[in-house]
Amino acid sequence: MKDLLRTEHLSRADIELLLDTAADFAKNPFRSRDALANQSVAVYMTKPSTRTRLASETAIAHLGGTPIFLRGDDLQIGRGETISDTAKIISGFASALIVRTFAQSDVDELGAHSTIPVINALTDTDHPTQLLADWLTIREVFGKDIAGRKFTYVGDGNNMASAWLTMGAILGAHVVVATPPGKWAPNSDAVARATQIANKSGGKIEVLTDPAAAAQGASVLYTDVWMSMGDAESERKEKIAALSPYAVTNDLMAQTASDSIFMHCLPAHRGEEVASEVIDGPKSVIWREAFHRRTTIQAILYHLVRGELVGAL
Ligand code: CP
Ligand code: NVA
Repeated sequence: MKDLLRTEHLSRADIELLLDTAADFAKNPFRSRDALANQSVAVYMTKPSTRTRLASETAIAHLGGTPIFLRGDDLQIGRGETISDTAKIISGFASALIVRTFAQSDVDELGAHSTIPVINALTDTDHPTQLLADWLTIREVFGKDIAGRKFTYVGDGNNMASAWLTMGAILGAHVVVATPPGKWAPNSDAVARATQIANKSGGKIEVLTDPAAAAQGASVLYTDVWMSMGDAESERKEKIAALSPYAVTNDLMAQTASDSIFMHCLPAHRGEEVASEVIDGPKSVIWREAFHRRTTIQAILYHLVRGELVGAL
């Protein structure tokens, strides 16, 4: 496996390896400080980022490399240079490329035309590096035995919802997503793919519209912003109204298991998708989750550059 372009490309064994290495990087951040010595890693983003940029640049530095940050309009892509030419040029200067943008197809194309590993740092449809941080955090709380546990996401059927279903499916988890019906339901291709993966892994996928049913007995209650980067502002009012029953409040948390945790990839909008009492309350693990953005990106870079990920069949 050369790149990490999509969550579904990871095998269960890859995830196990990445999470184990990331757990070690949490304890020993400079364990592999020569892994990228005398090398550069490009970080190219056409959308804003707080965590992913900080985590990526820090991870590169901890591996002894130099990050080169490229903002969307810094490159000649904006003036018509092709993705394929750009990919070849970046491959000549950097040892890996971390990319955040809108279309998944652009990230796929960068991967296809680069000779270096390309890592998806969020697209409109996926967010694989986030899911690794999430699952490392889940493991720290509940351990590796997830049998009988339920992992629920409520809110917008966006990139995070798709990635949540896919990653849970690969790991053989019981994953649940509850969204409004229709326009903001999860992507049907992502649901079909996750169901297919879950059928093989022993996982279980449930797509619901009732947030209380989804939260019932859950070990994890996860949510994300209601307006994602690139969402149409003209739909804001309609979207917020449709999503308001999915807000994570103390009442919704009360439906979950007694040892449950609250998760959020951040950035958060208190008073919209989550109440302050929940996100700033005792069940919230958001700061540990954000911390693991660095440890997991460090593990991805470490293993991809060494060619140690196998990929899903
Ligand atoms: N969770 C996440 O990807 O955060 P940023 O958008 O700040 O990178
Ligand atoms: N769904 C959000 C995630 C941000 C990390 C977005 O795409 O903007």
